[in-house]
Amino acid sequence: MFSLAGQTAVVTGGGRGIGRGISLALAEAGANLVISGRTAETLESTAKEIAGLGADVLVHPCDITSQDAIDGLVAASLDRFGAINCWVNNAGSASAGDVGPLIDLAENQWDRVVDLNLKWTFFAAQAAARAMGEHGGSIINISSRSGSQPCPYTGQYGAAKAGVENLTATMAVEWGHLGIRVNAIAPGVVVTENSQSMRRESTRRRQIETVPLRRLGEVEDIGPLAVYFASDESSWVSGSVVQVNGGSRIPVGTLSYLHHINRKMEEAETQEDAS
Ligand SMILES: NC(=O)c1ccc[n+]([C@@H]2O[C@H](COP(=O)([O-])OP(=O)(O)OC[C@H]3O[C@@H](n4cnc5c(N)ncnc54)[C@H](OP(=O)(O)O)[C@@H]3O)[C@@H](O)[C@H]2O)c1
Repeated sequence: MFSLAGQTAVVTGGGRGIGRGISLALAEAGANLVISGRTAETLESTAKEIAGLGADVLVHPCDITSQDAIDGLVAASLDRFGAINCWVNNAGSASAGDVGPLIDLAENQWDRVVDLNLKWTFFAAQAAARAMGEHGGSIINISSRSGSQPCPYTGQYGAAKAGVENLTATMAVEWGHLGIRVNAIAPGVVVTENSQSMRRESTRRRQIETVPLRRLGEVEDIGPLAVYFASDESSWVSGSVVQVNGGSRIPVGTLSYLHHINRKMEEAETQEDAS
């Protein structure tokens, strides 16, 4: 069950965080890997771990936000392995400079986040589907709990992930007859090297309190589902979005935002009473 022996998987953003976890899980299931991202050092270090599992691995550094870069990644993958069986659209995020309330959101903050998480995720999926052609394959989009919940302070990120989930459904319909399956994984809060929000212990505690399974996610929690979506065992599964979030249905971002607003309103009332 779940063997990916002889298959080739491409993972964007495969050098660190959730992408690294997915790459290692796919390699452990027997796939050859192409990992991509902007930072050669992290890619090389993850490639060593992948090779240690006995998989063949190609490192292809690039910024995924252009058609040329996507075409280059496809060409390099086909050159090395002859076919692409699985493509994971994992590269994505909202950087610190793009975080803030919607009322202040600037056009360039919108563009940076929506372009990376929605526009280039779509064009990468399109290029992967064209490369898979007649033999078909599995495309896996990494969404987020933010794709189906309010996402205060990164509203444009939530909108982009909602778009990814909707496109996942349409791509699954349009490409099903080609033998291409398209699914999405929507993680909850997953601790990575880069998780800004994990730095404060109080934030971490509040987040854990909203998770029925009483812990935050680890990158190892996401890879097994990617293996399932890549494998023949999911050959009748397409267009689905699976939440991987410790059972949490509580929108922690909304709670934090409302706490913050309540505190500000209480402070304003206290000041008014004092004057
Ligand atoms: N961690 C969470 O709690 C969480 C929750 C829900 C969803 N997600 C989603 O899961 C995915 C991975 O997130 P993560 O938390 O692992 O993030 P991360 O640690 O910040 O990693 C992001 C990955 O994407 C790559 N990347 C970013 N911009 C890129 C670009 N322009 N071109 C090519 N690669 C790029 C990064 O590599 P380089 O910097 O080297 O380019 C890195 O490998 C994202 O789609 C994110 O939205 C994460």
